[in-house]
Amino acid sequence: MPKRPEELRSHRWFGAEGMRAANHRSRMLQLGLGHEEFQGRPVIGIVNTWSDLMHCHAHFRERAQDVKRGVWAAGGVPVEIPAMALPEVFQKPSTMLYRNFLAMETEEIARSLPLDGLVLMGGCDKTGPALIMGAISMGLPAIYVPAGPMLSGHWRGRKLGSGSDVWKYHAELRAGTITQQAWKEMESGLSRSAGTCMTAGTASTMALAAEAMGLTLPGAASIPAVDSAHPRMAAAAGRRIVAMVWEDLTLGRLLDQRSLDNAVAATMAFGGSTNAIPHLIAIARRAGIAMDLDRFDAISRRVPLIANLRPNGSTHLMEDFFYAGGSRGFLATLAPHLALMRAR
Ligand code: FES
Repeated sequence: MPKRPEELRSHRWFGAEGMRAANHRSRMLQLGLGHEEFQGRPVIGIVNTWSDLMHCHAHFRERAQDVKRGVWAAGGVPVEIPAMALPEVFQKPSTMLYRNFLAMETEEIARSLPLDGLVLMGGCDKTGPALIMGAISMGLPAIYVPAGPMLSGHWRGRKLGSGSDVWKYHAELRAGTITQQAWKEMESGLSRSAGTCMTAGTASTMALAAEAMGLTLPGAASIPAVDSAHPRMAAAAGRRIVAMVWEDLTLGRLLDQRSLDNAVAATMAFGGSTNAIPHLIAIARRAGIAMDLDRFDAISRRVPLIANLRPNGSTHLMEDFFYAGGSRGFLATLAPHLALMRAR
């Protein structure tokens, strides 16, 4: 049975009688929304980890507009709420220190405001796990919109991968096998667009793990940030979250031992980042699900390695992965090793 409008969480703010509810409604009117635009409709918080220093989420202000378009189209009320951005390359001493702060911020944003559902906009390494952890603790319906990988790097006819090629060519520079001029040119070809690192690093691994757990739309994890499929995915996520609110499809109904095992299986078959281990254990424990190193070990022994991406594999990058079928094709190939199920 779908929820009734008076069962919405936001109804407590906007639908009740009395002075306080009138005050809440008057402030929505102050924001320029008419009664008919917000009353009895799911209010969707778009938690946006954008900042001027967030290199991997440079497209997120624009992308939030795409999510809003989807939410409006499905009869919801989108409200964009900024949250700390955690730019992996700039933030010192380590973004790991701030992952749990963002998890707490996400949870408290959701708890303290008149929201019925969440769209989680993250991608750069710690942001995805943090947003998911916060949403689990809050227990509202939520959908993850991953930032998507940036385009492949290019320099003098060679493909460049985030991270690993900086190490490689810096070593070449120190060895005297490339010039300062070549080093500078390489720097310009490395990070060519908005989006997360385009190797099989933490961002792509965790996006894929989130998709394997059912926390994104199918295929969302590998769409390049600047491909036109990305804004279409963002708008579709906006439409979907409104339906999820009416269905009361919380993360608690999506996550169980099988979905966490699917995330581990996807990580192993992807040859993904070892950073998935602390993040998936943290996500599992937020959800009250058992997960430890022995479980990673056991799953790794039964799951084949399917992907062939840098830094573990050959020269392929996330853009190649997308053209080869992307996360959807990958998970379909992995299906015999996954628990296929419906939400509880
Ligand atoms: Fe953001 Fe690598 S620096 S994903």
